[in-house]
Amino acid sequence: MSHPYCSYRSLFPTLSTHVHLASCSQGALAQPVSKAIEEYHNGLLLSGSNWDEAIEKVEETRKKFAELIGAETDEIAVLSSVSDAISAIATSLPYQKEKNKIVFTDIDFPTVGHIWLAQEQFKDNITFIRSSNGIIHVEQYEKEVKHDTLLTCIPHVCYYNGYMQNLKVIADIVHKKGSLLFVDAYQSAGQIPINVKEMDIDILAAGTRKYMLGIPGVAFLYIKKELAENLKPRVTGWLGQEKTSEFDIYHPVFAAGARRFETGTPSFISVYAAYEAIKLLLEVGIDNIQSYLKELTRFTLHYGQEKGLHIIGPLSTKCRSSMTSFYVENASKIEGFLREKNIVVSARKDVIRIAPHFYNTKDELEYAIAELSNLINGK
Ligand SMILES: Cc1ncc(COP(=O)(O)O)c(C=O)c1O
Repeated sequence: MSHPYCSYRSLFPTLSTHVHLASCSQGALAQPVSKAIEEYHNGLLLSGSNWDEAIEKVEETRKKFAELIGAETDEIAVLSSVSDAISAIATSLPYQKEKNKIVFTDIDFPTVGHIWLAQEQFKDNITFIRSSNGIIHVEQYEKEVKHDTLLTCIPHVCYYNGYMQNLKVIADIVHKKGSLLFVDAYQSAGQIPINVKEMDIDILAAGTRKYMLGIPGVAFLYIKKELAENLKPRVTGWLGQEKTSEFDIYHPVFAAGARRFETGTPSFISVYAAYEAIKLLLEVGIDNIQSYLKELTRFTLHYGQEKGLHIIGPLSTKCRSSMTSFYVENASKIEGFLREKNIVVSARKDVIRIAPHFYNTKDELEYAIAELSNLINGK
């Protein structure tokens, strides 16, 4: 298999010394992203203050993320983490006696449970959908989402096993019951095409440090404009107001659209990084990235099994992202051993996650899987 994005590899210095297969945790840092970080830093260092430029960069970055997911710019809030984005919604939804159920799944990232179970008005009205063999059949959404469900919260891709759900099919099911759909796209944005309009998603959150190739400190919240304007955030602040420059302490008026969910000054340095990272992804093209990663995943599934490794989750590329999880008893120890060989992977509970991006090659995967198999089989 040739590597169609070979020319991009030199943009990622770490690839010359490391086999970087941890994009499900932290993507490799590209030179333009690193330069953007320096640009922000130098602005402070050499000019003292760069507030106006930084605010302008937030607007440009909002636009870029909107482009990445097919949304309008006004439908994007720039926040600090996916947890913040979920909390922004959890603390804004109105409690209605006849419609107060929250549905989420056991394949969601744990922060989803932590947040919903901390909400006094919703915590006794929660339905968990349980997976079997790491997947959730759409019939379970048909059964568990009911007419009193206010919101259904699902991951696009499961952080633990790489299982990918069909968002449009689930959107149709939950909408039939009158529920809103919240999608956690942190494990898919940057590697899988997303179009919130075509997929009919009401609310979506994604951070930038994984497949989006940024650094921690920025996450985006997409919310349909008409829906945003019916919600009154209780976690708010001066940057969520319509007129931020009037400094009127007495008469708060929420900003239009998703901006109302913003609070205070964002991590500008992370915003600079996010802008360049998303620009790079759009240049390569998410459709191209997905089709290349499918080839890599096909190879990983095949070679992993040939090496006798136990793969967690579905064995077909049809409902998988690029991340493959291998069952390992002492996963964090194995992660450390691989790191000694300059192979960067990511452990979670009892799995080693191997998560390539468009910059990786089949040879890198072959090497990492062979080393993982040697460690497990004690060679
Ligand atoms: C799917 C998913 N959602 C949410 C999170 C948590 O994101 P944050 O730390 O930005 O709140 C993670 C982190 O790994 C994740 O993988």
